[in-house]
Amino acid sequence: MEINIISNSENETIELGKKIAKNLKKGDIIILSGDLGSGKTKLTEGILSFFNLQDEISSPTFTIVNEYITEKLNIYHFDLYRLNDIDEFEAIGGEEYFEKGVCIIEWGEMIEEILPQDYIKIEFSRNLEDENKRNIKILKK
Ligand SMILES: Nc1ncnc2c1ncn2[C@@H]1O[C@H](COP(=O)(O)OP(=O)(O)O)[C@@H](O)[C@H]1O
Ligand SMILES: [Mg+2]
Repeated sequence: MEINIISNSENETIELGKKIAKNLKKGDIIILSGDLGSGKTKLTEGILSFFNLQDEISSPTFTIVNEYITEKLNIYHFDLYRLNDIDEFEAIGGEEYFEKGVCIIEWGEMIEEILPQDYIKIEFSRNLEDENKRNIKILKK
């Protein structure tokens, strides 16, 4: 399955995150790929706000993973920007998170080969026409 969406604003990207969040369940993995500033964290913010965690979001840039534990679901937000390779992901026990909740993984294309078969990939790219536009492609295996 492949869906192509144009987001016209930061807010539309957040709203898209909320819609995606509705269907998430334990064990789901979403990888977010695209340049710095393309909207990966904004979409994550939308997902977290569906679970009323919008005030808690912080960039996991220095910690690699932020954990959000709720009654319904655990959410693990990764940012692999500073990771050099899959070995480093394995060294932090990254794979152990997959079954424990929902994993949202910025720069997740780096670890695609060790992911379980089913995962969602969301690709962000800038739109040359407008600095607030993003092309967002959702791919589900
Ligand atoms: N349509 C849009 N969707 C998402 N972010 C947008 C959009 N238009 C402008 N922006 C801006 O782009 C930046 C995206 O930042 P962020 O989500 O942190 O990117 P990333 O996590 O991919 O590095 C924010 O400053 C946001 O305000
Ligand atoms: Mg980010």
